[in-house]
Amino acid sequence: MAYNLLKGKKGIIFGALNDQSIAWKVAERAVEEGAQIVLTNTAVACRMGTIAQLAEKTNATVIAADATSVEDLEMLFSEAQKALGGKIDFVLHSCAMSANMRKKRTYDDLDYSLLDKTLDISAISFHKMLQVAKKMDALAENASVLALTYVASHRTFFGYNDMADAKSLLESIARSFGYIYGREKGVRVNTISQSPTYTTAGSGIKGLYDFSDRMSPLGNASADECADYCIVMFSDLTKKVTMQTLFHDGGFSNMGMSLRGMTQYNKSFIEENTDKETGKIIYG
Ligand SMILES: NC(=O)c1ccc[n+]([C@@H]2O[C@H](COP(=O)([O-])OP(=O)(O)OC[C@H]3O[C@@H](n4cnc5c(N)ncnc54)[C@H](O)[C@@H]3O)[C@@H](O)[C@H]2O)c1
Repeated sequence: MAYNLLKGKKGIIFGALNDQSIAWKVAERAVEEGAQIVLTNTAVACRMGTIAQLAEKTNATVIAADATSVEDLEMLFSEAQKALGGKIDFVLHSCAMSANMRKKRTYDDLDYSLLDKTLDISAISFHKMLQVAKKMDALAENASVLALTYVASHRTFFGYNDMADAKSLLESIARSFGYIYGREKGVRVNTISQSPTYTTAGSGIKGLYDFSDRMSPLGNASADECADYCIVMFSDLTKKVTMQTLFHDGGFSNMGMSLRGMTQYNKSFIEENTDKETGKIIYG
């Protein structure tokens, strides 16, 4: 159901790779709510992914840009304003990549040049886009800028690796830039901390997905639900919300243990203590 929440607004959406991408769902919802958008991703992702289909569906212009390149970002903000016919009202940063994780380097065996890459793509790119936008005065008064984050920014999750550090930095950038941009232009800068979601970046999360689903009173939030939340944050209904890490996780971040979690956990004790051949419980 559409509410015209973004009627007349112009936005840039980073990070739609395929129809599983959270950014893909946000793009669809933004247009449904009356926005005009520019889609952007790396040149490789634009070639390999299916962004052209999304562009056709949403009547969007695609502008390839590497979010870690200041030069590309300057070109993007300039071209996007031309394509949309004015200043930008909302931006979604939905980019992340850990080359250490791809190369199966563990957190106590990080390759530091790969760590630089992780931080650049997944966090510093957010600073770069804010700084470029501010220097070019490309954002409208009261514009809303969002990045997507994960609770591993401040609690440790097995296997989240250097991405946890990137998410901590990302959230810190939202606070620090949110102060400056808010004070000077009323621009809001927030991060949304999303549940585990099956996407290309979020592949291999089976255990984590199931765990947080069992732990959360409302269950995991889907990519479509995340898109709904982004729309509210881009709309004029949230003009005084800034510098926040906003949890969109069905309640997971405030849980310790749920009955569903405990029940599943208890099963492992039974398995561990069961004789594999006879199936009988071993009492010690
Ligand atoms: N999937 C999850 O479980 C989950 C949970 C919480 C937060 N998030 C965050 O949501 C965001 C979107 O991820 P997703 O799950 O939709 O996966 P996705 O793989 O669909 O999106 C990641 C995007 O980042 C883009 N990207 C990588 N390097 C880039 C660069 N240099 N410049 C521009 N773009 C670049 C990729 O091309 C891709 O489109 C990420 O920040 C991710 O960390 C995901």
